[in-house]
Amino acid sequence: MTSIKISPSMLSADFSCLKESIEAVEEAEWLHLDIMDGHFVPNITFGPCVISKIRNYTDQIFDTHLMIEEPRKYIQDFVDVGSDYITVHVEVHEDLADIGKTLNMIRDTGVKAGISINPPTPWKPYKDLLSKVDLVLVMTVNPGFGGQTFMHEVVPKIREINEHISEEDLHTEIAVDGGVSPKTAPKVVKAGADILVAGSAIFKGDAKENMQHLRDAASR
Ligand code: DX5
Ligand code: ZN
Repeated sequence: MTSIKISPSMLSADFSCLKESIEAVEEAEWLHLDIMDGHFVPNITFGPCVISKIRNYTDQIFDTHLMIEEPRKYIQDFVDVGSDYITVHVEVHEDLADIGKTLNMIRDTGVKAGISINPPTPWKPYKDLLSKVDLVLVMTVNPGFGGQTFMHEVVPKIREINEHISEEDLHTEIAVDGGVSPKTAPKVVKAGADILVAGSAIFKGDAKENMQHLRDAASR
């Protein structure tokens, strides 16, 4: 079993001192960057210019989660500012061919590609895409806001995706996003997650300490 990676969601960080927030989580392997457009989700966050500034302070893997409509319009912008992974939602696409077009566009830039699946969205229609992506981001809250309650009913979906990845001998990694905390992490890891995205569980209070608690819980 590979070791679990932690991807702190910067959405919950103090935006008045992003540099310090990044330093506090420098031991995390990844940084999760939530991009919201006010259309696909009922919230607006930040864009490429913020990412370009924080890119100067860290070499961590930038895991850009696009919660936006028409993602193809903005992919190059997120590549240019230093994203290592770009994840798009299956729900903003017309069909599998349309998703394939977006994934090819991401991969052609040399950046790793991911798909994200909302809690009510079944995963099986997207089964064949799992061999074409580096990452599948399973949402355990309805996207839009940090600090929501983990939806336990999504856990079987994580398990089923993990089983499929093992059966097919794929290298696709599973990230889980929404309500991940020391309390929920053991269940998420047991179901097969490789990457834990966590916002409020890390940035509410002492981020360094919280990171350690999450790591301890994940290895239990
Ligand atoms: C939700 C975002 C998440 C969010 C997670 O729409 O995609 O990445 O920041 O926040 P917590 O960990 O607080 O649920
Ligand atoms: Zn996210």
